[in-house]
Amino acid sequence: MNTKYRKTVIAANWKMNKVASEVKPFADELKALCPHPKWCEVVVCAPFVDLPAALKAFKDMRVSVGAENLNENDSGAYTGEVSAAMLKDIGVKYVVIGHSERRQYYGETDILVNKKVHAAINANLIPIICVGESLEQRELGITIELITLQVKTALAGVPADKMRKVVIAYEPVWAIGTGKTATAEQANEVCSAIRGVIRSLYGARVARAVSIQYGGSMNEKNAAELLAQPDIDGGLIGGASLVPAKFAAVIEAAKQE
Ligand code: PGA
Repeated sequence: MNTKYRKTVIAANWKMNKVASEVKPFADELKALCPHPKWCEVVVCAPFVDLPAALKAFKDMRVSVGAENLNENDSGAYTGEVSAAMLKDIGVKYVVIGHSERRQYYGETDILVNKKVHAAINANLIPIICVGESLEQRELGITIELITLQVKTALAGVPADKMRKVVIAYEPVWAIGTGKTATAEQANEVCSAIRGVIRSLYGARVARAVSIQYGGSMNEKNAAELLAQPDIDGGLIGGASLVPAKFAAVIEAAKQE
């Protein structure tokens, strides 16, 4: 983390977990453990149908609410989809884009991710753009090239003045939900490379201000070490974010420096 130049963003990614009636009990428990986390931005990204309950439950806490996906189009005949304007209208602040599970199971490509990033930015939502390599790609030694391509494609056409409202999440696919975390050094190496890509596109000042998260089996035990790295500015947390005590401990781990 480098809290002098950028925000630390600790975001829960609930994925397809929790029904709406479970949201308030979660929020109450989190609030008791961690009443007003001032040292970082806390976000809970929840399934679409849980969003109204989340907006209500987290209203009086310093916790923002995010969606886990959106459609790239403004409106129209896209049965079953949800637009950026719909999310913005109910008070959602963040949206996860290009998560590896969406790339893997729903065929999302870098080009589609780019369209979704534009849809989010145009609606004044903060995209959390996920990038990451598979185990095969890591073993082939092409991690940095691949991530560079993912980041450049995701950000194509995004002007510099919008970059303050963009979060990037580095999530190695082999570390998601597997219990295998990247070492702090491995994670920092890629987050630092991502900052280098942003520097090459937008200059040092913008690169310094962008929050870059790590995600992939981040939990209450390894969060402090990961967050102590200079280029890791937060986390996108799946499994451990479903349990208030674990998520609260990750938030506490961001209270460094
Ligand atoms: P995990 O998921 O923490 O369960 O590995 C992280 C993510 O997919 O965002």
